[in-house]
Amino acid sequence: MDRAAAWQVVQEHVKAEGLRRHMLAVEAAMRFYAEKLGGDVESWGMAGLLHDYDWEIHPTLEAHPQDGVPLLRERGCDEDVVRAILSHNTEGTGVERERPIDFALLASDEITGLIIAASLVRPSKDVRDVEVKSIKKRWKEKTFAAGVDRDHVEAVTADFSRACFAGQLELWEHVGNVLAAMQGAAATLDLDGRMAAPA
Ligand SMILES: [Fe+2]
Ligand SMILES: [Fe+2]
Repeated sequence: MDRAAAWQVVQEHVKAEGLRRHMLAVEAAMRFYAEKLGGDVESWGMAGLLHDYDWEIHPTLEAHPQDGVPLLRERGCDEDVVRAILSHNTEGTGVERERPIDFALLASDEITGLIIAASLVRPSKDVRDVEVKSIKKRWKEKTFAAGVDRDHVEAVTADFSRACFAGQLELWEHVGNVLAAMQGAAATLDLDGRMAAPA
């Protein structure tokens, strides 16, 4: 499966623009970390791009993502990618996080939601105008992007840090990395100012 085929799977199964944007954001973060950690950029990106593709058809943590896996295999998705996707819901799938790609995926998952929300409240609607300090401020406002579980983000970031950075990846450095990755994909995410109201 190549990137075009993976995007085709997303387009077939995901109607919500927000969910597509979420997966594109996680894809950007995964490509960033693959480069940083010497992983396979295409596989890591694909795990991000596809990890929630079945959420609209299997919207429970009992069914998602494992019930989506047969179709991924049918379309020729690598087992490396499939395993990473399964490991983002260990509670439901029993697949533990073991490899760098697994830790990176969960650590990149929810934090993208906070960055997207922080971009969309700016008049410019441009992720390139967001700074780590604005995310820090939003982090403390519990009602802002309330669905982003701050404690969970901290826990999975700490796991990623221990597994892949000898404990040296601090939360705000991670946030800065994911932010930079998303800024590099601003146009793909439609967070390049095109949604701003005309002046
Ligand atoms: Fe998910
Ligand atoms: Fe996700």
